[in-house]
Amino acid sequence: MSDSTRRQNILVTGGAGYIGIHTVVALARAGFVPHVLDNFSNSSRSNLVRAQEIIGSVIPVHEVDVRSQKQLQAVLSSTNFDAVVHLAGLKVISDSQARPTEYFDVNVSGSISLLRAMELHHVKRFVFSSSASVYGTENTMPVAETGVLSPQHPYGQTKCVVEQLLASLAHADRTWAIAALRYFNPVGAHESALIGETTQSRPTNLMPAVVRAALRSGEPVEIFGNDFPTPDGSGVRDFIHVMDLAEGHVAALRYLCRPGVEPYSVVNLGTGRGTSVLQLLGVMGEVAGHPIAHVIRDRRSGDVAESYADVTLAEALLEWRATRTVDDMCESALRWGKRSAQALDG
Ligand SMILES: NC(=O)c1ccc[n+]([C@@H]2O[C@H](COP(=O)([O-])OP(=O)(O)OC[C@H]3O[C@@H](n4cnc5c(N)ncnc54)[C@H](O)[C@@H]3O)[C@@H](O)[C@H]2O)c1
Repeated sequence: MSDSTRRQNILVTGGAGYIGIHTVVALARAGFVPHVLDNFSNSSRSNLVRAQEIIGSVIPVHEVDVRSQKQLQAVLSSTNFDAVVHLAGLKVISDSQARPTEYFDVNVSGSISLLRAMELHHVKRFVFSSSASVYGTENTMPVAETGVLSPQHPYGQTKCVVEQLLASLAHADRTWAIAALRYFNPVGAHESALIGETTQSRPTNLMPAVVRAALRSGEPVEIFGNDFPTPDGSGVRDFIHVMDLAEGHVAALRYLCRPGVEPYSVVNLGTGRGTSVLQLLGVMGEVAGHPIAHVIRDRRSGDVAESYADVTLAEALLEWRATRTVDDMCESALRWGKRSAQALDG
């Protein structure tokens, strides 16, 4: 097969996790060959089995810790990779406040280790999973990529530090093609309901808690603050369907393959629309056919009233925009929740 017709091999670190597994499916559907690198610290191989069922082909898997230079070298020697999508990392804000060293080790040292290995193997296309939490509290909405960066917790700090490193790297060596994608709030599941967001017994993310309450199998949803200066007092977020987000990675890779691409770009991935937490519960209530039980708690420190993206750059640069609605997000999340609950019962 000539090089121009060869399907591109993409290494997806953290590819067995929530965003990773949906990205793997989107990449395969778009004609790429995704390979997964994961240490399964927050995921299981069963995600890969179900993703293989969706795409109808085998996904090569490397059980590797992203901090291990030796193991990374072996993976990068094994295949001619065209790009790396780096999603491996830790993401729970409260854990990052309790264990900052661990968060900097995995998120920052892991990224350094990976970039070093890529340099040695001359793989220079890189997509990085950054986060809207880099913006902090000072910006007016919708926030553009030029907004003030002031992360409010160690997790957000790790994303900022890696972004700074990527900017310096691209400045020093213009043969890199790097896209740092700032995700807003991914929710929902693949339409097949074969893959979705799996959580521990007590979910820390909003949507899994909402799904449990919708299935009447969990505690009422905790809403942190109902006195924000927003129309209904609850926080406003930019919820984005995880498959839209996954397709954003495909768009970013296509962009990085264009001739003359900038060595470093930072792009928001959101819908550009704000939805309040209470509105999300309202939509889920309609989908489930009954109101979603919830309790109001005090605001958490560092939580902003509103956070939603200016998506002008994503549309212009990546030629991508989110198309799925909040209804789609709730329906797919609930279908996935029902299916995984049945699998646990059975
Ligand atoms: N989910 C969100 O709301 C959100 C928002 C913004 C950014 N992000 C970022 O996107 C990325 C993926 O998030 P997710 O929601 O899919 O999380 P996830 O926990 O479901 O997936 C992360 C994956 O990385 C793996 N991993 C963790 N440490 C590793 C290590 N040392 N070596 C190899 N693999 C390791 C885990 O096993 C897991 O499969 C993370 O970097 C996260 O910070 C997530």
